[in-house]
Amino acid sequence: MDYDTIILGAGAAGLMCAAHCGGRVLLVDHAKKPGEKIRISGGGRCNFTNTGTGPENFLSANPHFAKSALARYTQWDFISLVSEHGIAWHEKTLGQLFCDGSAQQIIDMLLGLVGRAGAEISLSTSAEDITRLADGYGLTLVRGNARQLVTTRNLVLATGGKSIPKMGATGFAHDLARQMDLPVTERAPALVPLTFAPDRFAGLPGVALPARVTAGATTFAEALLFTHRGLSGPAILQASSYWQEGAEITIDLTPGGQALATLRGARRKVGNRSLTRSLDMLLPARLSDYLAADWQLEGNLADQSDAALGALCDRLSQWRLRPAGSEGYRTAEVTRGGVSTEALSSRSLQSHAHPGLYFIGECVDVTGWLGGYNFQWAWSSAMAAARAI
Ligand code: FDA
Repeated sequence: MDYDTIILGAGAAGLMCAAHCGGRVLLVDHAKKPGEKIRISGGGRCNFTNTGTGPENFLSANPHFAKSALARYTQWDFISLVSEHGIAWHEKTLGQLFCDGSAQQIIDMLLGLVGRAGAEISLSTSAEDITRLADGYGLTLVRGNARQLVTTRNLVLATGGKSIPKMGATGFAHDLARQMDLPVTERAPALVPLTFAPDRFAGLPGVALPARVTAGATTFAEALLFTHRGLSGPAILQASSYWQEGAEITIDLTPGGQALATLRGARRKVGNRSLTRSLDMLLPARLSDYLAADWQLEGNLADQSDAALGALCDRLSQWRLRPAGSEGYRTAEVTRGGVSTEALSSRSLQSHAHPGLYFIGECVDVTGWLGGYNFQWAWSSAMAAARAI
């Protein structure tokens, strides 16, 4: 065997695995540089984990699958690693940890560890003709015009998901899994803005407010943002992971729960105020104008019975909308779905059917919420495989 382990994909999971698995290791990536998604993540500061990480922050056909890897290499382990390397960090909100400096510090830390472990890195290199041998795997590495046949005892797929194809994202791991008769669950863009018919929210782009957005049975209370093409902001990105094509989402525009009390109080004090302007007490003015026109609200506060105000507050807290679609893989932060967890050991991420074959990171059907959870899955799943190797 030429190598003990070949890892395809030098992103978050591949780098972490190469840094820790030991033996003769080759890390291969078709991109010119390693860790490009780390570099652009978190607005250039990399939201590298979340202090609240737990299995409930992930979507998967098997919600128990991620438990083992997450418990055996936790957010606190990664925080220690970062701190030991002198990387200063801060919590932004909701347990999300970012570098004080730049995401490049995380890449440099991982490259340093890979170098210390003695692993080789081959960039601008792709892998073809992967075949199973009696005691490992054979593959052809292609770099420019050079082709090299290599053998390895272990093969780790860390090629990520399909999000942002412009950056070289592919469905390579999923295609290989299928080729090797391993199941792949349905995939879809996730953590992605939702789109609506042109002009559906005319006059609203740029308006932002706190909201509770529900898709399926899951609700997220974060910021909502109107855009030229539809809806975005953390609440929508989170909900998009649970949204099914053709389904409605429900938006609570008054998440404080004080809307009725506010309107009734105003009716006593300023009953001659128009209903539209009264909404300004609850919403940004442009959104009040939009809803007043859309819902044909008329009259003053004094004209409204308790029942009418109650009905209006219900509409505000249960605004039901049917997105036309999503922005797709072009802008999605992650891919939902992937190599089925049924095919893998939750302890080691190794294929049950093909000993020595591992799938780690985003290519697996484990998708994190927005907020550092996807990187934590990359670190934890990479460590699970590295320890098993
Ligand atoms: P990753 O995508 O990191 O790496 C895969 C590697 O495989 C790449 O280097 C690619 O070039 C290579 N590759 C692909 N196909 C190949 C092939 N056929 N042959 C050879 N190499 C191949 N998450 C988070 O927790 N916090 C955050 O702040 C952000 N921010 C963020 C911003 C943006 C704009 C995006 C797009 C994504 C995020 N994410 C995030 C998500 C996070 O980046 C993602 O979940 C992890 O990078 C996944 O790590 P992997 O190592 O699995 O894939």
